[in-house]
Amino acid sequence: MSRLELKFDPNTIEHLGVKMYSTLPPALAELISNAYDADASEVVVEFLEQNGTPKAITVYDDGIGMTAKDIQEKFLVIGRNRRKHEGDEPSPRFGRLPTGKKGLGKLALFGLAKQIVVDTKKDGLRNRFTLNWNDLLASSDTYNPEMDLTDSETKNKAGTVIQLSELKRKSPFDLEAIADTISRIFIVDSEFTIVLKGPNDKTIKIADDRRYKKIETQFSWSEKDLIDPESEYHGKVQLSLITSVTPIPPSSGLRGIALFSRGKLVNMPEYFSDSTSSHFYQYLTGWIKADFIDLLDEDVISTNRQSLNWDHPEMTKFRAYLSDLVAQVGQYWRRKRENKKDKELEQATGIDKEQWFGSLPGDIKQSVEMIVRKLGGSEEVSETNGTYLSLNV
Ligand SMILES: Nc1ncnc2c1ncn2[C@@H]1O[C@H](COP(=O)(O)OP(=O)(O)OP(=O)(O)O)[C@@H](O)[C@H]1O
Ligand SMILES: [Mg+2]
Repeated sequence: MSRLELKFDPNTIEHLGVKMYSTLPPALAELISNAYDADASEVVVEFLEQNGTPKAITVYDDGIGMTAKDIQEKFLVIGRNRRKHEGDEPSPRFGRLPTGKKGLGKLALFGLAKQIVVDTKKDGLRNRFTLNWNDLLASSDTYNPEMDLTDSETKNKAGTVIQLSELKRKSPFDLEAIADTISRIFIVDSEFTIVLKGPNDKTIKIADDRRYKKIETQFSWSEKDLIDPESEYHGKVQLSLITSVTPIPPSSGLRGIALFSRGKLVNMPEYFSDSTSSHFYQYLTGWIKADFIDLLDEDVISTNRQSLNWDHPEMTKFRAYLSDLVAQVGQYWRRKRENKKDKELEQATGIDKEQWFGSLPGDIKQSVEMIVRKLGGSEEVSETNGTYLSLNV
């Protein structure tokens, strides 16, 4: 044998694309990201069912589109780093920095469907080609997608339509649930609209306030409240932390703080701490935008964007900072809740707790004060029970 050769089996795509995106929303999120990166003002995802069975998903965007050259050199190359080839520059129309980096997002298509038709227009030229999963698997080391329109002239404006059929999903689409999940994957600029359509003519525009709509906010904090001007993260991080009046249901997927970079989720909600027992955690939700994560020398964002590589020294440091920040918010929360309960107690009974302590005889004062503080400040006692118990002391 004269020289060695490293070969790729088409099955690699199955592991990278299909297995990575086992559920609908993260796979759709890759297509939505591509529309965002293409400088679109809107992306519409249309779901088609026939007799309650999913038939097709079509994604429309009004972004820059692709020429035949773009398709060959950008879209059809697996693992191309666009930031290296095209620079990491703001987009011409909306000034967006690219979210795409790995050149793998398009593989999410195969997580959803076996047949994919891409129809795209750019600079008055239209291109249309088909990707077929079975043909791809049957190919040896090169796959030639069927192209039925090549740089054919068009008067229509730029944009891309991706139609997915022969879908893997067999159960009906739940548009509201999809919208909820998508709303937690993106915090993008207001010039980008995500719309979900049908079946039954249902349309959902995913608004920014959808994410925490089901949370009844009790207290909230922004970066101004929590990040010290002296801290190295000052000016680098924006955040919105919220505590709910009642415990957040675990099934909502909202417990904990989600991390975003360039408007896209990079780490699922969590507490950045090894101990997860605090009662406070049941009440805490929110987001942190840390765009510097995209600029680290090493890529720390996992391909499916669910978690970060916390072993990177910058990230280990950031995690320790976030862990302290969450602990600090926990303390603020306890204090605020205690103050609120005291106020409510005073309103209900006319008793000012501190004054009342002062009026008690010395020998019982200390024990009464201890009991009341324990009950009033106890995390385990719910709002109503806390008041009830305090009143009965
Ligand atoms: N809707 C679209 N409109 C215009 N160009 C697109 C569109 N979708 C994909 N492309 C082009 O195809 C390329 C490959 O897309 P893909 O999602 O695979 O990788 P990426 O976006 O560069 O990186 P990542 O894997 O991090 O998403 C993009 O960089 C872009 O040039
Ligand atoms: Mg992409």
